[in-house]
Amino acid sequence: MAHIITMANHKGGVGKTSSVQNIGAGLARAGQRVLLIDFDPQANLSDGFGYRDLEFGIFEAMLGEIEVPIVELQENLSLIPSNIGLAGAEMYFSTYTARERILGKKVIDKVKDNFDFIIIDSPPSLGLLTINAFTASQSIFIPLDAEYFSMRGLDNLQELIDRVQEDLNPSLQIAGVFFTKYDNRMVIKSNVRKVIRAQFEEKVFDTHIRNNIAVAEAQAQGMDVFSYDPKCNGAVDYQKLTKEVLVRYDLVPAESSK
Ligand SMILES: Nc1ncnc2c1ncn2[C@@H]1O[C@H](COP(=O)(O)OP(=O)(O)OP(=O)(O)O)[C@@H](O)[C@H]1O
Ligand SMILES: [Mg+2]
Repeated sequence: MAHIITMANHKGGVGKTSSVQNIGAGLARAGQRVLLIDFDPQANLSDGFGYRDLEFGIFEAMLGEIEVPIVELQENLSLIPSNIGLAGAEMYFSTYTARERILGKKVIDKVKDNFDFIIIDSPPSLGLLTINAFTASQSIFIPLDAEYFSMRGLDNLQELIDRVQEDLNPSLQIAGVFFTKYDNRMVIKSNVRKVIRAQFEEKVFDTHIRNNIAVAEAQAQGMDVFSYDPKCNGAVDYQKLTKEVLVRYDLVPAESSK
């Protein structure tokens, strides 16, 4: 059965989408069958793979208007795209009785047997879309930028996770926390790192994703960072992080993560 992971942090711009794209590509390159789900009306993940302004996407599949749309991007790597239509989902589904389970029932249940990993990109909010993603997942990965403000608001995220765990999905857990856009020359960042380690303990990955413009350049070209420049810091870091993810799911032995 697929490991289903939501990349979540309601703070905007912390690297959720970039991490879904590049951890996904890394896992696919390691031979895992990976499905990425763009579950953000901004559709940055779709955009980052070169799919812009689509007339169909995950929202239409949730409505049952179309079959689940799956785009094959590369060997082992597929995408369910999104478009701006998803912006209406919270309003549209607000009166449904099982509104928290629509992503799971209408989309993921139909395709999950074909994949080893499903990674959901969530929007920067704690509304119904994020609740749907949490209800359909076993794991949450939290990317953090190593700024002081990255610690603010984590309580709200934890509260929502606890609530979904209690009411909707008892198996949900935080399975990974990591820093993005990292620059170890700044003292404040190493302090933030200590606080986060104390809070999330062994869930914090050793790898930090360094600040590297190639991550953004790759997206502008519609590519993951490995296809764009396999030698850049972004590719090196996402490769290391991918190995840690494989270790965490017991797919490779721990010593090969070094
Ligand atoms: N390691 C990095 N180095 C430099 N730039 C990065 C890095 N990671 C992401 N970026 C850039 O930072 C911006 C925000 O990243 P991203 O879109 O992945 O964040 P997000 O958390 O998904 O944002 P949102 O909350 O809006 O969905 C993007 O322009 C992206 O290209
Ligand atoms: Mg995003």
